[in-house]
Amino acid sequence: MGNIYQSNHPLIKHKLSLLRSVETGPKKFRELIREIAILLAYEATADLSLKEILVTTPMTEASGHQLTEKVGLIPILRAGLGMVEGVWEMMPTAEVWHIGLYRDHKTLQPVEYYNKLPVHPTVQVCVILDPMLATGGSAVATVDILKRWGAKRIKFVAIIAAPAGLDLLQKVHPDVDIHLAAIDDYLTPVPTSPDDPPEGYIVPGLGDAGDRQFGTA
Ligand code: PRP
Ligand code: URA
Repeated sequence: MGNIYQSNHPLIKHKLSLLRSVETGPKKFRELIREIAILLAYEATADLSLKEILVTTPMTEASGHQLTEKVGLIPILRAGLGMVEGVWEMMPTAEVWHIGLYRDHKTLQPVEYYNKLPVHPTVQVCVILDPMLATGGSAVATVDILKRWGAKRIKFVAIIAAPAGLDLLQKVHPDVDIHLAAIDDYLTPVPTSPDDPPEGYIVPGLGDAGDRQFGTA
């Protein structure tokens, strides 16, 4: 059974509050997404396997460690793009595989538009990166794609989740560990007046993570 890990780190909590703020513009928003992603990925990779190695220092020989598993970073386009660069800097030998999905505005179902995974898996651990886990449709679809590819160990790193999305991802893929900065309250319902926000947005959330990063709101 996969686990839900909600970070308690003060730096993440502080940065998340800045990220949520309507006052935060695209440049600062991108910086915060990058920084929070690094901190969450640090926590999410705490169980990677190591082997012992011998290192020659300028003084003598020392025992050291080397990662034994190949990691794949899988950003979900578009909003996951902002999370990948910083995490990649922390683990430069990782492979990056992009999955393109968007949520259909009417049905809220994910629509796949990009996927160039090779025929056979090339990594042992897949870390999916997407700031928002709302209905969970995009997360479930991405894990489906990775499992069809043959991925065995999958982790999902998001910044904010809604309870509905978490429930769905856990129900459909109970073996996937989920790492988060926050679990929010609910998803916006079907609008009943023109002033209402569109359906399926996380509350309190941060709005549209893709639009806020790329300045397309
Ligand atoms: C957002 C977000 C997730 C998805 C979450 O992407 O980045 O991928 O919505 O919603 P779900 O849990 O209900 O599937 P969006 O579809 O807006 O695409 P974008 O990143 O290209 O703007
Ligand atoms: N996608 C977003 O970017 N924000 C939400 O609140 C829900 C889905």
